[in-house]
Amino acid sequence: MLAAPFPTLFSPLRIVGLTFANRIVMSAMSTHMVGPGGSVSPQQIAYYRERALGGTALITVEYACVSLEGKARDWQLVLDSPANIGGHIKLVEAIKDSGANASLQLHHAGRQTYPHYIGGRQPVAPSPVESKYFGPAAIARALTVAEIEGLIDSFAKSAKWAVEAGYDAIELHAAHGYLLGQFLSPLTNKRDDDWGGDFERRLRFPKAVIAAVKAAIGTHRPLIYRFSGDEFVPGGLTIEDTELIAPHLVAAGADALHVSAGIMDCMEFVIEPMSMPEGWRLYLSRRVKAKVDVPVITVGQVRLPSTAERALVAGDADLIALGRPLLVDPFWPAKARAGKVDDIRPCTSCNWCIGPAGKHRGVGCAENPRAGRELDAALSDFGKGRDAIVVGAGPGGIVAALLLDQAGFKVALHEARPSVGGGLIVSGTPPHKENLLLYLEYLERRLSSSKVTLHLNSRRTTEELCALKPAVAVMAIGSAPLLMEIDGIDAPTVHQAFDVLLGDDGVATRVQGQSVVVYGGGETGCETAEFLADRGARVLLVSRSPQAKLARSAERLYRKQLRERLGRNPNIAVIENSHIVRIEPDRVTIKGPDGSTSTHAASAVFIAQGRRPAAPPLDILESAGIRAACIGDANDIGRIGEAVADAYRVVMALEKRLDPVFVAC
Ligand SMILES: Cc1cc2nc3c(=O)[nH]c(=O)nc-3n(C[C@H](O)[C@H](O)[C@H](O)COP(=O)(O)OP(=O)(O)OC[C@H]3O[C@@H](n4cnc5c(N)ncnc54)[C@H](O)[C@@H]3O)c2cc1C
Ligand SMILES: Cc1cc2nc3c(=O)[nH]c(=O)nc-3n(C[C@H](O)[C@H](O)[C@H](O)COP(=O)(O)O)c2cc1C
Ligand code: SF4
Repeated sequence: MLAAPFPTLFSPLRIVGLTFANRIVMSAMSTHMVGPGGSVSPQQIAYYRERALGGTALITVEYACVSLEGKARDWQLVLDSPANIGGHIKLVEAIKDSGANASLQLHHAGRQTYPHYIGGRQPVAPSPVESKYFGPAAIARALTVAEIEGLIDSFAKSAKWAVEAGYDAIELHAAHGYLLGQFLSPLTNKRDDDWGGDFERRLRFPKAVIAAVKAAIGTHRPLIYRFSGDEFVPGGLTIEDTELIAPHLVAAGADALHVSAGIMDCMEFVIEPMSMPEGWRLYLSRRVKAKVDVPVITVGQVRLPSTAERALVAGDADLIALGRPLLVDPFWPAKARAGKVDDIRPCTSCNWCIGPAGKHRGVGCAENPRAGRELDAALSDFGKGRDAIVVGAGPGGIVAALLLDQAGFKVALHEARPSVGGGLIVSGTPPHKENLLLYLEYLERRLSSSKVTLHLNSRRTTEELCALKPAVAVMAIGSAPLLMEIDGIDAPTVHQAFDVLLGDDGVATRVQGQSVVVYGGGETGCETAEFLADRGARVLLVSRSPQAKLARSAERLYRKQLRERLGRNPNIAVIENSHIVRIEPDRVTIKGPDGSTSTHAASAVFIAQGRRPAAPPLDILESAGIRAACIGDANDIGRIGEAVADAYRVVMALEKRLDPVFVAC
């Protein structure tokens, strides 16, 4: 018999009265899907049920605020009175009926909030220290002693209501620079009274909250204390500090420690972008674990079951918390347990899930269009063998083809290039972005195990589709470059940056030791500059905008690191607020903001001046009787997440378009 894969990961553990079936914990992730007054919504119940079904031992329900002036967001759970217990009872039932234990994270934002989230009030904190992230308009006032004592009581009461709702464990959110962490940190606690002034007094509030909550939940339910092992900000807590702090938290009553990292001023350490390596934070939990005798949970950038197993065996932690990996694939644990690692949809840390507010109000995932939409009906078998053609095998087209296949269509996927991937290849080629290629590999595996017929080197036109007359056509043909009028733009030394990253243009292999120019300070220009510099070129990056706007459409945490890297790369120089006015075979002429011109050596010029949607004419297809849709960049230039979400939306809507239900009245 074959040995079970990942035996330590799938071994049980007992923490006080609670048995964990395995070592996997879902870490708290706000869903922004709450009901009125911070109550639990039916959508949240469906979302957590699915994650519990996937085999996770403990589901930590997202942060619930214990007091209204401590709300971090509009869309946050509130448990400041018994009013919302009813929803939590249903939520806990759903989690437990699906085979997992349920924990609730209790939270107070302290200074890390805006007045408009807390009814126009001024935020409160141990001391009035401005947060870089929230700025001067959100500066907090210092809590009075009576308020501090009241807050200890608020945590205890919320914990009691959580227990009444049936939660098996309580997690205190003292990580990421929120109130409990603010009392501990010398950066934010400048008091000189019983609640601050030295190490002992900074510990007093967290210890008092732990003791009060422990008293409220009883000895048989674990109290998990989540804190940042290192705050990664000047003047903040370091790992050396938290090594000293950890035993005090345990002595106060914490049954397990959950070691996260960072505060809001440095979000790239809290929810790290893809440039951070696999398992980079394990040293934090390892160092804390060496100082305490209670179980320690690690979290952050653990994507592979093999990393999790190794960390447990090496004694880096006793439990592994997964956040985004369970957003993208709730069945990560079940698949790992069955040894089907290749079936796990990989989280690339693209951070679309924390992307611009408003684009997807509830939680979502770039690769998993059902995340946050678990109440949607399952895709039915409505295709009934009808023909569907998908044109373009970028992420949008591949996902559309897979969904149509699942819905029972006979699917042909046509791709103009010799391989699938499209913009996903472009996105995953620059340095530090190779995680995105894991998603491409996953999609390729899904394609090869599906019934989709793939036609490579097959560029299709709308006229050809009309002649083929499938029942359904999905146009996922991406974008085209915006054309520029520059003297010399047609020279053979001029290349589209997009094509270079796509690998269709062998020029990248010939830039070693050459001086080249990249024209465009957007995400594509900046990434192309880094890509070419990595290949030995001396790059001049010419931006029409000010340097502060470099890569402005990139995901903000990744962007922060990209800009830092560009700034310290000796092979990249930036000229801002300038235009290229002439291109010659060996040089470019640049016009600066004051109208003066300068010439610069350039054996090649890479244009990164934006793209426009390919926008195929759907009306021609529709008038030929084909149900047609256009998705992704072909429709509107966006991200992988938008292309995948479009694919899902279009396929889900097709059933009604193909088989309309007529209601007689
Ligand atoms: C430099 C760069 C970096 C990026 N980084 C990120 C990132 O980090 N994260 C992120 O989310 N997004 C990123 N994006 C955006 C992302 O690449 C796109 O939003 C995404 O690829 C759009 O997917 P799509 O399926 O709509 O189109 P595409 O990925 O563009 O796919 C279109 C496909 O259609 C094919 N095609 C075109 N015409 C035809 C035809 N007539 N017949 C057959 N096939 C055809 C093309 O060859 C191509 O394979 C980046 C974009 C660029 C340029
Ligand atoms: C959408 C989203 C919401 C989050 N909300 C919370 C939260 O409510 N409480 C918390 O402690 N951490 C929160 N986090 C941080 C995660 O719990 C986790 O620590 C982080 O994502 C790193 O782990 P991962 O790499 O496994 O995702 C959130 C993360 C994401 C992506
Ligand atoms: S959106 Fe990106 S980072 Fe977030 S869970 Fe999905 S794949 Fe991971």
